[in-house]
Amino acid sequence: MSNYTEEINRRRTFAIISHPDAGKTTLTEKFLLYGGAINLAGSVKGKATARHAVSDWMEIEKERGISVTSSVLQFEYDGYCINILDTPGHQDFSEDTYRTLMAADSAVMVIDASKGVEAQTRKLFKVCVMRKIPIFTFINKMDRDARDTFELLDDIEKELGIATCPVNWPIGSGKGFKGVYDREKKCVIAYSDTEKGTKEGIATEIPVKDEAHLREIIGEEAADKLLEEIELLDGASAEFDLEEVRKGELTPVCFGSALTNFGVEIFLKHFLHMTTAPLARKADVGMIEPTEHEFSAFVFKIQANMNKAHRDRVAFMRICSGKFDASMEVRHVQGNKVMRLSQPQQIMADERKILSEAYAGDIIGVFDPGIFSIGDTICMPKEKFCYEGIPTFAPEHFARVRQVDTMKRKQFVKGIEQIAQEGAIQIFQEFNTGLEEIIVGVVGVLQFEVLKYRLENEYNVEIRLENLPYEHIRWIENKDEIDLDKLTGTSDMKKVKDMKGNPLLLFVNSWSIGMTLDRNKGLVLAEFSKN
Ligand code: G4P
Repeated sequence: MSNYTEEINRRRTFAIISHPDAGKTTLTEKFLLYGGAINLAGSVKGKATARHAVSDWMEIEKERGISVTSSVLQFEYDGYCINILDTPGHQDFSEDTYRTLMAADSAVMVIDASKGVEAQTRKLFKVCVMRKIPIFTFINKMDRDARDTFELLDDIEKELGIATCPVNWPIGSGKGFKGVYDREKKCVIAYSDTEKGTKEGIATEIPVKDEAHLREIIGEEAADKLLEEIELLDGASAEFDLEEVRKGELTPVCFGSALTNFGVEIFLKHFLHMTTAPLARKADVGMIEPTEHEFSAFVFKIQANMNKAHRDRVAFMRICSGKFDASMEVRHVQGNKVMRLSQPQQIMADERKILSEAYAGDIIGVFDPGIFSIGDTICMPKEKFCYEGIPTFAPEHFARVRQVDTMKRKQFVKGIEQIAQEGAIQIFQEFNTGLEEIIVGVVGVLQFEVLKYRLENEYNVEIRLENLPYEHIRWIENKDEIDLDKLTGTSDMKKVKDMKGNPLLLFVNSWSIGMTLDRNKGLVLAEFSKN
């Protein structure tokens, strides 16, 4: 057993997914409060402060007042070392949001109790399913009027296709919110509007079999309803099965209110109890076990221009095995180079801390002189294996892009190719043409602005973007079996290829996708590209 086994085994690395405004930031702040990483919730990334955060990562962030970049937070709780991968919460999220999920071992899904499953959650959820990682649900804002609890669970099951297992059960909502019923302990944890920003007070736990006391605390009506619901629930809901949770087939659900800090610690405890230490990852030489292998990592995100003065790039990597020590030499497999990683750091919200060591499960950011690409593997000098690549996710917005000054063709192509290589945008070409016609695809429309801004500022090229009506793109998975010339789609379908020459189809609506599949028997289309 290696000397770093203990450090690795106490690590838990997860991403939080939600639709904007469901309460992801508030919940994260409350987590940090328990961990003691900060003194007062709200001081890390509260909405109000985030709007004016001193972030020099990108001017656009300041101009738009939103966080384009995502960060990593680390805190200690109950002997665990927890890494939270924060994903941009704004509607204009990018492919990076998806990629962040590739670096997590599990996901926390925050749902607004008055709304249920929303668009962005649905999209992020698909990536979790693809990875088969465990998903833990926190239904938030119970202090506001919520939808019926059974209906909320039904919504998750139908919309997302995952079975739910309530860990606890809410008693009322809004002004009538009385607390939650803990199904395992068979007791009620009564709600008190704990002061914002402070730790949860000592919760009052009332066993349901102590019915008189229960009725006295939560009231006759709420008690009647609860007892009835418990009976229904015990008869109807899925059996709790940790194996199924770990395979991502069953999501444990907790209810609470992040704002008033109710149910957060309960959720955290259950979550930590059910998650696993960093998982083994697939490489071309087989599975790499975190505690049985020396240092290895893969790059999942490249952030350009974090420091405007230096125009540098930071490559974020997830450590998959062993211990990282800043003084050691490592191999960048794709670049076939042995090197020391420069300025390894931990990115905490807007702060960066230089690291001397880190372990499997941790995320580090290193200075990138332009050599790393998304999906690259870093390992010990004596080794040379590659982690399974990171898929390319389907963009949803497309535009034709042209440079204004035709003399600047070279800079334009160089700039757009480099930005595409970082993974901020994807570029496509029409079939049978060169780079004259470039179509840019992005996951969130803000990336168009980022592209325009960066080409102007870094490459001195002004561009014009002409929006295209396409909303869906699909890779042709069985491209070798399909004769592209004979492919018959709808009149508004367009055939394009990506930078690697893979054929793709662009569609205006999902109906056209169905039509095309109908007309071309045997055609297999994919929303992710693995190569
Ligand atoms: P996000 O990161 O998922 O986008 O959501 P965020 O935590 O920023 O929360 C969105 C809004 O919802 C915030 O209000 C926040 O205070 C509120 N909120 C979060 N959790 C709860 C909860 O449990 N109960 C209630 N009632 N509200 C909650 P805001 O007015 O947009 O921002 P702020 O000015 O209060 O910071």
